[in-house]
Amino acid sequence: MERLQKVIANSGYTSRRKAEELIVNKEVFVNGKLITELGYRVDKNDDIVVEGTHITKENKVYYLLNKPRGYVSSTYDEKGRKVVTDLIDTTLRIYPVGRLDYDTTGILLLTNDGEFANLMMHPKNKIDKLYIAKIKGILFKNEIEELSKGVVIDGVKTSRAKVKVKKYDKKTNTSIVEIIIHEGRNHQVKKMFEAVNHEVLKLKREQIAFLTLDGLSSKEYRMLTPKEVKRLYNLAKNGK
Ligand code: URA
Repeated sequence: MERLQKVIANSGYTSRRKAEELIVNKEVFVNGKLITELGYRVDKNDDIVVEGTHITKENKVYYLLNKPRGYVSSTYDEKGRKVVTDLIDTTLRIYPVGRLDYDTTGILLLTNDGEFANLMMHPKNKIDKLYIAKIKGILFKNEIEELSKGVVIDGVKTSRAKVKVKKYDKKTNTSIVEIIIHEGRNHQVKKMFEAVNHEVLKLKREQIAFLTLDGLSSKEYRMLTPKEVKRLYNLAKNGK
């Protein structure tokens, strides 16, 4: 038996807070009976209707997390390190869409929708990912060009990238660089800079397609809206 608001939230219909509001606002029926009590307990055989929609356990869920440093992008780590799914309050079996390194921060999607995950990750679908890298040294014009046109990492050339230097700090001899890529190869950004002899000191992913980290501090997350999910599907399938 689980609390009604938890079951609604876990179904992917809405957040737990919104589920509580819906219960109090007389929008939730269990087995045909109006329930307004927040602690009401239900089990998996109960028929739950929220705002006229039947809730099932199999609903697809989509989370946007601001990943902190020190978490593995996985559902389990053999070495016992913390994993990104620890940060999300759900009993559904979600997993990260692609990977950010242990020391990389920023936007990471998690879902239980395999088709969605594959569409987001496949390079042919050209879903842009924007990274901000703090690198050692000055990035010269020829290096920007090389990175933009593609550099060879692990024997294979990278696709076109958009590269912009945002800032150079003379004191520390470091640069802040924005780089947009649509592939997601292992340690891709770090290896790309390595290919032009710059070490990446810090890396953050700030955007995936139109999704940003707006309003989310480190470790915070939110659910994607159905509209956002639809837009991402459209982008991946039709390029718009
Ligand atoms: N590129 C990297 O090198 N690391 C990441 O975490 C993401 C992209």
